[in-house]
Amino acid sequence: MSRVAHVNGTYLPHRHARVSIDDRGYQFADAVYEVIAIRGDRLIDAERHLDRLDRSLRELRMASPMSRVALRAVMDEVIRRNMVSDGIIYLQLSRAVAPRDHPFPAKARTQLVMTARRSRPEPEAWAREGVRVITQPEIRWARCDIKSTALLPNVLAKQMARESGAFEAWFVDRDGMVTEGSSTNAWIVDESGQLITRPPSDAILNGVTRQAVVDLARGEQLRLVERPFSLDEARAAREAFLTSTTANVMPVTMIDGHKVGQGGVGEFTRKLRQRYVEANAVSA
Ligand code: PDD
Repeated sequence: MSRVAHVNGTYLPHRHARVSIDDRGYQFADAVYEVIAIRGDRLIDAERHLDRLDRSLRELRMASPMSRVALRAVMDEVIRRNMVSDGIIYLQLSRAVAPRDHPFPAKARTQLVMTARRSRPEPEAWAREGVRVITQPEIRWARCDIKSTALLPNVLAKQMARESGAFEAWFVDRDGMVTEGSSTNAWIVDESGQLITRPPSDAILNGVTRQAVVDLARGEQLRLVERPFSLDEARAAREAFLTSTTANVMPVTMIDGHKVGQGGVGEFTRKLRQRYVEANAVSA
């Protein structure tokens, strides 16, 4: 079956779908996006993703191209046409197609591209055994809360991880504090059993999975503290894990070649992953 893409109201074979070379997303990364998981024919946390999309648009003063109801209808259609039961849907909205000039164009018609593809969750073995993380200097801009397509530092960091045989790279700022991963949020459990993750701010993307896991941790009465943590704390942690739409809750067993705790998957991580998987098997 060939894939289908949605481009500004038109459904096209994916391989024929095109945007203009004057698209500001292409020229300036003047664009925002969302990645939403589809599991068992259901979108996971779609409303939270669309809330964050609205926020990204607002922060960049970009108009929404359609109402949420209409957007959801297009999403459903893209998923239907691609026959995706398990995978992801990708939405990208750019400011406009206009001759290249830095300020916003007078007439800015938000461009919408949507694709969907089948994909499996990350291999269960990774979740069983945990993954490795390396660290990279935080070189991103000061508005990481906006989910923009300006991802070059993230791309470079992920490439470094790939070349090191690691799953992810965590950014560390000049004060030695971990901000987040190149496409995931970062969590640790300290020696006293406190679950620690950075609070939402302009230094990180407020992950939808992060938000869901915060709710689960509260429900489980875990001692959750939302505060920045340092690389030193991460290395001394009892457990570490990362969260994202595609990785769910993924145990981290090594940071920069040092074992986290005993080097195995910790009990908090195991429990939160299990709760997350259960929650998404029964509600979307
Ligand atoms: N990445 N931090 C960054 C920088 C991210 O790009 C992402 C998501 C996350 C986790 O957010 P969420 O839980 O909402 O997926 C944190 C997506 C998956 C991507 O760029 O492909």
